[in-house]
Amino acid sequence: MKEDIKLFNAITEELNRERNTLEMIASENFTSRNVLDVVGSILTNKYAEGYPGKRYYGGCEAVDKVENIAKQRCEELFKADHANVQPHSGSQANMAVFLTFLNPGDTVIGLNLAHGGHLTHGSKVNFSGQFYNFISYNVDKETGLVNFEEIMKLAKKHKPKLIICGGSAYPRFIEFKEFRKIADEVNSYLMADIAHPSGLIAAGEHPSPWPYCDIVTSTTHKTLRGPRGGIILLGNDFKNRWGIVAPKSGRVKNMSELIDSSVMPGIQGGPLMHVIAGKAIAFKEALQPEFKEYCKQIISNAKTLALTMKELGYKLITDGTDTHLILIDLSDKKITGRLAESRLEDAGITTNKNMIPYDQKSPFVTSGIRIGTPALTSRGMKNQEMIFIANLIDKVLSNIENDKIIIDVKSDVKELCSSFKLYENLI
Ligand SMILES: Cc1ncc(COP(=O)(O)O)c(C=O)c1O
Repeated sequence: MKEDIKLFNAITEELNRERNTLEMIASENFTSRNVLDVVGSILTNKYAEGYPGKRYYGGCEAVDKVENIAKQRCEELFKADHANVQPHSGSQANMAVFLTFLNPGDTVIGLNLAHGGHLTHGSKVNFSGQFYNFISYNVDKETGLVNFEEIMKLAKKHKPKLIICGGSAYPRFIEFKEFRKIADEVNSYLMADIAHPSGLIAAGEHPSPWPYCDIVTSTTHKTLRGPRGGIILLGNDFKNRWGIVAPKSGRVKNMSELIDSSVMPGIQGGPLMHVIAGKAIAFKEALQPEFKEYCKQIISNAKTLALTMKELGYKLITDGTDTHLILIDLSDKKITGRLAESRLEDAGITTNKNMIPYDQKSPFVTSGIRIGTPALTSRGMKNQEMIFIANLIDKVLSNIENDKIIIDVKSDVKELCSSFKLYENLI
């Protein structure tokens, strides 16, 4: 590897960035060394289109074992009737679910991207908004919370085939039970996209989507702390609720087989066996009692960070958080999200600019920043560090033009990072 100097240097640069800065992007995390090692293993060499025992290629005995281990652990972790561990990403997982449940042009209700949803929940620049008739629900202007009366009205008016709950910038618990009431009222399927809180759900620190949701998708690399990828989970209650009639064809079919065939051959070819092995490790890690403690600390850290930011005079969307993420409204500070992101990065604090609900600015500028605690918590940081970090963030945002202060903060950040080692024996 060291012979490829250019690439080696770029990777070393990224390692140093991860070590010496505060990673506060809510959707990022640091996997364990075991996950890293397995994702870099020889399993990347193997083509294994199909599923264990039913592959289109020879030589799959060992990778069949790998996939079965991952699938069983995933089902145990999420108490699911069936798990598909092959989606290459959260977006692919969502695409496969849409292919299972919808015909092109069908109506779906999902959270507006500008209000905390996700691109795959109907954005016009995404396949979802182009292939399906997505109707977006907004959060309440005053509280920032999902407004169930509005969703009920939209559902009754548009009669969606599928309702999606969950998003990428919603700081509160997803209220699965409330969504079920609406889905029942209009006889719609209910999908939860738990990409963000899946680790917290696995640890029992966020309410479970069962028995309310029919189908669940997630990424594996956010709070779940696994490798980059996606999963699809089928609920135990699907059969009780819907019988065994397939959503699209009307034919009687096994739902788990239908989901699997939507992933492969529906939208993907060969699975990434090295990543599936990494997922298997992450699921096992998440089944350990320490993972519950880790998730408790993620939330406790986020609450401390939120409270300190509020005490320092910042407005938070929904006035706080139940989870790992916080959305800061900077509109009264006369700072854009773009400027805040850039100056915080200069100070060694990595965040992302984010639209706030009813934002007057474009997605490239925005009036907010989103911050999260999973990665900092993985490094071992606790509440005391959160108070210190909130004050550093405030120092940057209150002195946005002052290079001297930004340099001072950067050195404080570096010192803090040096006490919380990351990937110590790597390179
Ligand atoms: C709610 C939600 N769904 C889906 C995704 C898509 O995941 P990926 O980036 O792996 O495609 C994300 C990623 O940010 C997300 O936040």
